[in-house]
Amino acid sequence: MRVGITYDLRDDYLALGFGEEETAEFDRRETIDSIDRTIKDLGYTTDRIGHVKTLMARLAGGDRWDLVFNIAEGLQGYGREAQIPALLDVYQIPYTFSGPLSLTITLHKGMAKHVVRGFGIPTPNFLVLKSVSDVAKVDLPFPLFAKPVAEGTGKGISAASKLSNQKELVFQCTRLLSEYRQPVLVETYLSGREFTVGIVGTDDQARAVGVMEVILKDHAEKHAYSYLNKERCEEFVEYRPADEANAVKASEIALAAWRALECRDAGRVDLRADVEGRMNFLEANPLPGLHPQHSDLPILCSMSGISYRELLGWIMQSAIGRVVASG
Ligand SMILES: Nc1ncnc2c1ncn2[C@@H]1O[C@H](COP(=O)(O)OP(=O)(O)OP(=O)(O)O)[C@@H](O)[C@H]1O
Ligand SMILES: [Mg+2]
Repeated sequence: MRVGITYDLRDDYLALGFGEEETAEFDRRETIDSIDRTIKDLGYTTDRIGHVKTLMARLAGGDRWDLVFNIAEGLQGYGREAQIPALLDVYQIPYTFSGPLSLTITLHKGMAKHVVRGFGIPTPNFLVLKSVSDVAKVDLPFPLFAKPVAEGTGKGISAASKLSNQKELVFQCTRLLSEYRQPVLVETYLSGREFTVGIVGTDDQARAVGVMEVILKDHAEKHAYSYLNKERCEEFVEYRPADEANAVKASEIALAAWRALECRDAGRVDLRADVEGRMNFLEANPLPGLHPQHSDLPILCSMSGISYRELLGWIMQSAIGRVVASG
């Protein structure tokens, strides 16, 4: 089986003049090398394609693959993660991970919360602010939390994301709106413990493969698993397998959200507990980072005794299983 690999390489974009934070979601060369090596090791033939424009050129030139292993995040718009899946749908080429609908909805954290809440899954009350004047509409009690509506990898998230009063709300929303040029999600701050659930599979085949607690060390940046804490996770973050009771609660909510959002093959759902210890949905990550040592999904798998090879094997099996089932 010939497997194409689509991805956005951080070095390519840095070379084009993009900045460190702008390219934070993109992959390092060692991640692509690890994926390529592991897929080969699983017995498939691989072909590195790269980003969406290379894919377009190769499709137009007549190239085809039996399956594409897609981890490209894209650059522009709410549909940026959906661009490659949509293009592959045009050519009826199957691919790993979620389709355009899920990738677009989950990228917009406000839309994802509407869907999840519609399914009765707990998530903090929220508003999406499109301009500074929208701050006047915020009628939720402090403390609140503000983040760009459609970013990942902790972009735009720092200790200042936790808002204790009106002054901080205005200041932080003004800053985020101008810096990230997109709406800001403001929601109730969850002061409890934080967990991330690794999921493999699709629909009724989906299962939690591990639940990890994210614990900020004393000298870490406060309040959130922020951009800085993620970038320097070895120094600032302790990862611990969740205790049984929290693992059960977190898995149940994460799987419900995964199915509600129709995510496929593998990913992560992030959760935090409120002041009473009730677990809440924060966001879903249907294109999980796959750096073998640095990304949350491989980290939590290795805690559960699941190797990187096993994880990638399951992702391939899940995608191939869907293709077979759809005839
Ligand atoms: N409502 C909230 N209350 C408390 N902390 C929050 C809240 N929302 C986000 N956080 C903190 O900010 C972190 C990042 O938020 P979120 O998961 O939405 O962002 P992200 O950048 O998309 O993450 P990822 O790297 O998983 O893609 C969370 O892991 C959590 O620590
Ligand atoms: Mg997250």
